[in-house]
Amino acid sequence: MSANPNTITIDGQEIPFTAKQTIMDAALAAGVYIPHLCHYPGLPPSGNCRLCMVETGNRNVAACITPAVAGQEIRNNTPELNEVRKSITQMLFVEGNHICPSCEKTGNCKLQAMGYYLGMLDDHFPQFYQRREMDASHAEILLDRGRCILCDLCVRASRDVDGKNVFAIAGRGTNAHLIVNSPTGKLADSTIATTDLAATICPVGAILIKEQGYQVPVGQRIYDQHTIREIGLRESIAKKNDD
Ligand code: SF4
Ligand code: FES
Repeated sequence: MSANPNTITIDGQEIPFTAKQTIMDAALAAGVYIPHLCHYPGLPPSGNCRLCMVETGNRNVAACITPAVAGQEIRNNTPELNEVRKSITQMLFVEGNHICPSCEKTGNCKLQAMGYYLGMLDDHFPQFYQRREMDASHAEILLDRGRCILCDLCVRASRDVDGKNVFAIAGRGTNAHLIVNSPTGKLADSTIATTDLAATICPVGAILIKEQGYQVPVGQRIYDQHTIREIGLRESIAKKNDD
């Protein structure tokens, strides 16, 4: 049990928290990285990628949706949990069509960066080779569902920040897919704009602004120079400074 009533411990480090903070919020605010793909500071959590799974007591919980409770003792950066996270990352790779060398998001992709961070050397699981619809109808924005990891970030960004509700996830399990809320179901007929958070938040190369892909050369991109840990902590600090 932690001595301070408003603290939790993560891997033995005492961390303060405030009312309504999740384990993820408290950890990031204290500079402790918990791997995540579907969490983004300032957006409501969805708890769907499961990368942020931590151990508390005898339970595994998703840190982004679990409230911090005084005295919680949490295990996060352990070989066992990182091995599970690596398997989840490998599953995300094989469920979609992630051909990193030919994807213009390479070097800026959080899924790829997570693979590096967790020491992923191969896909491990057989490829699904899913056939999912590409939507190139919009003049400035491309949607390639083949690379979508169904993190729900564009859905929340459009609904909660842009105030538009352009995206939704339909179906369940292997039938789950991203849909566009427009009369034709095409991006061209939606209200999305390049200035929307939903147009730029995609962690992978599923939503791309057209004609910008190679402005920064490969080798000089975000995750060519920083780990996903560094960027995850930086995004959290940037949000705190905005508030
Ligand atoms: Fe997430 Fe991108 Fe798929 Fe939207 S398009 S659900 S942001 S991976
Ligand atoms: Fe918690 Fe995705 S970051 S489930």
